[in-house]
Amino acid sequence: MSVAPDVRVHETADEQCAAVADFVVGELRAILARAPRATFALTGGSTPKRLYERLGARHGRDLDWTKVHFFFGDERCVPLDAPDSNFRMAHDALFAPLGLPRSGLHPMPAEDPDRDAAARRHERELREFFGDGATFDLAMLGLGEDAHVASLFPGERSVDERERWVLHIETRAKPPPHRLTMTLPVFARSRTLFFLVGGATKRDAVRRVLEPKDDADRALPAARVTARERLIWFVDRAAR
Ligand code: 6PG
Repeated sequence: MSVAPDVRVHETADEQCAAVADFVVGELRAILARAPRATFALTGGSTPKRLYERLGARHGRDLDWTKVHFFFGDERCVPLDAPDSNFRMAHDALFAPLGLPRSGLHPMPAEDPDRDAAARRHERELREFFGDGATFDLAMLGLGEDAHVASLFPGERSVDERERWVLHIETRAKPPPHRLTMTLPVFARSRTLFFLVGGATKRDAVRRVLEPKDDADRALPAARVTARERLIWFVDRAAR
């Protein structure tokens, strides 16, 4: 059963960034009002950088961020301090400015040269952390121009994975080629999942996913994303 998408369009990237920051803070505050911890799966790529920077710079006092556990929907198989590491981007923009302890950060083991073993190890850690119920209180995804999400690229076998939660993939769709990625079943167990999408280059992918015309559109990775309770699309006017 898939959840109907709630599409929220903002006129500019700045308006979108402010609105999504307020949304994230509101969600985390509501979760922490009823639970001792919150879980938040971040996305990589360039789009979320300004959101993370805004949260780190302006919202440090809005909640106890040390009660938030951060995960990553995918990671490039590069050192965690490499310029193209998703963890490095979130660390510099969000974790370091908030002074977060390492205990709440759950980077993917992207530096392990045995990538398949690293994927299985991270999956075990996730399964032990979440058990059989829902996974993330809050999860976010970006959108590729080809409608990929995380490191699940159109036409690749990983998109159809129904059992594993974390895979090592090798792709030519987006460098670097080796990546660890969560799979659609894991995202589907999130309580609330939101997309953060901006810019005219994403317009076609957004239309194909939200107004699919054929089975090819419906088979796109982003079109197959769902969540347990809420699925929200934050899209700026340029992308809509
Ligand atoms: C990654 C991301 C990837 C990203 C999209 C959009 O590791 O590359 O997880 O899925 O979210 O490619 O990237 P941009 O935000 O840079 O357009």
